[in-house]
Amino acid sequence: MLKGFWYRALPADRVHRNQLYKAMLLETPLVIGRDPAGHPFALRDACPHRGMPLHCGRFDGEQLECSYHGWKFDVHNGQCQLIPSLTSDQKLRVDRIYAGSYPCQEQDGFIWVYVPEPAPPGAGVTKPASAPDAAPQVEKFSEKYKLAYLTADMPVSVDHGIIGLMDPAHGPFVHQAWWWRSRHSIHEKQKNFEPIPNGFRMSAHTPSSNSVPYKLLRLYTAADSVTTTIDFVLPNLRSEIIRAGKYWFSSLTTVTPITRNQCRIDVVAAWNIFGWVPFGTELLKFVFGKFVEQDRRTMELQAEGLKHNPHLMLIDDADRPAKWYFQLKAAHVEARRTGQEMKHPMASQVTLRWRS
Ligand code: FES
Ligand SMILES: [Fe+2]
Repeated sequence: MLKGFWYRALPADRVHRNQLYKAMLLETPLVIGRDPAGHPFALRDACPHRGMPLHCGRFDGEQLECSYHGWKFDVHNGQCQLIPSLTSDQKLRVDRIYAGSYPCQEQDGFIWVYVPEPAPPGAGVTKPASAPDAAPQVEKFSEKYKLAYLTADMPVSVDHGIIGLMDPAHGPFVHQAWWWRSRHSIHEKQKNFEPIPNGFRMSAHTPSSNSVPYKLLRLYTAADSVTTTIDFVLPNLRSEIIRAGKYWFSSLTTVTPITRNQCRIDVVAAWNIFGWVPFGTELLKFVFGKFVEQDRRTMELQAEGLKHNPHLMLIDDADRPAKWYFQLKAAHVEARRTGQEMKHPMASQVTLRWRS
């Protein structure tokens, strides 16, 4: 589980003003909320006094009051504002005490939290870390667009979640549907991959012609060409962009580590196509929902097989993206350790071939 990155914590439409919510990221319990102006915040869900979960406390719109001894904290930086038990001659520096606070942003329908590295040291005196950059965005190519999200819990580690997402060979077996493809439509494929900062890209290509949605897309947009580009970037970002003339469809999928053996897949999509389809958004959610549910069900079963630590293997070429993922992760950790620039595992463009 890589620290020092932004992670999606909760769908924004589930977080209402002046209320407190529990969330878990990288085995760290958080309390998340929104102030009266709508700005989100995230604190470690443990009071720095004696560990009471802060989500049990009271939030008046400005400060969060712990339910055990009434210590009050500023929700945006975690700084302690009041310790009710102190008498007027007791000189404890209340303002030096902090409940762990995390950088927090709302972006494309999700509340994102920056999980800093290293973990805050001593409890209670750690000032909030700041994030080096803004939370990732879904790429958009026009002023007007629609946006929707899907989310699903997976009972496997983040690594299995991610390599499951980039795995090209499971499609015909897991994602069968008449409007998509069947196991009889398996054929040989060849795709080019290139290194990009912190990740790799499946170079722009024309999507496979044997699925109904892509045929429709070509028909409807009357575009000369439909191209797809898929990027994977550490720690957990998969973006897919489909462009057909002035029309586009773009998604940013993340696999978020919740605990060691649990992750969550969140897909956020934006598009300016399908405006003419009645219930376009619902239809799209239905289609994506089917895919994600098929993956979730598969990983649920896989988790059973993984319980007793079997030996596993990755094969060429179908599992090469998974190998790159592990190599990227190792290179990233090594770069953090040495303070040197990250050594990218891919030297140049690579062509992979597989049947799916
Ligand atoms: S545990 Fe929170 S105030 Fe004591
Ligand atoms: Fe899948």
